[in-house]
Amino acid sequence: MRKIFYILITLIITSCTTAEIPLVGEIPSDRKVSYNTDIQPIIFNNCLTCHSSVNPANGLILETYTQVRNSAENGTLIQRLNDAANPMPQSGLLTPDRRALFDKWKVEGYPEN
Ligand code: HEC
Repeated sequence: MRKIFYILITLIITSCTTAEIPLVGEIPSDRKVSYNTDIQPIIFNNCLTCHSSVNPANGLILETYTQVRNSAENGTLIQRLNDAANPMPQSGLLTPDRRALFDKWKVEGYPEN
């Protein structure tokens, strides 16, 4: 009984470590980066406390695809994400893979879905 238990535990542990669990913020190589899947959750978690329609910092609202795309395409969103001296969010740069997602999104033409 005990032996079976250990075998089971070993199986569970090895299957967990070898299984491909997609991480949020990981850069997909097999598909395009999309606003809905990749970009929106990052904006939601890191930007909306200051850039929602309720008292938006600098008047910049980042609630919709159009608003985020406009700031990335015509504004300074991507520059500020990567500006170590003056980062957005103000608390510090996001992780490199999250910032790279925005770069890939830009290269691919800012897909929404
Ligand atoms: C703690 C509040 C706060 C958070 C969180 C925050 N911002 Fe800002 N943001 C500001 C303030 C205040 C300004 C205006 C002053 C400045 O430019 O530094 C600003 C300015 C900006 C600007 C330049 C001004 C403009 O109108 O285009 C961009 C782009 C920007 N933020 C994007 C973001 C993004 C993207 C995130 C999330 C990754 C984010 N911000 C998170 C407070 C915040």
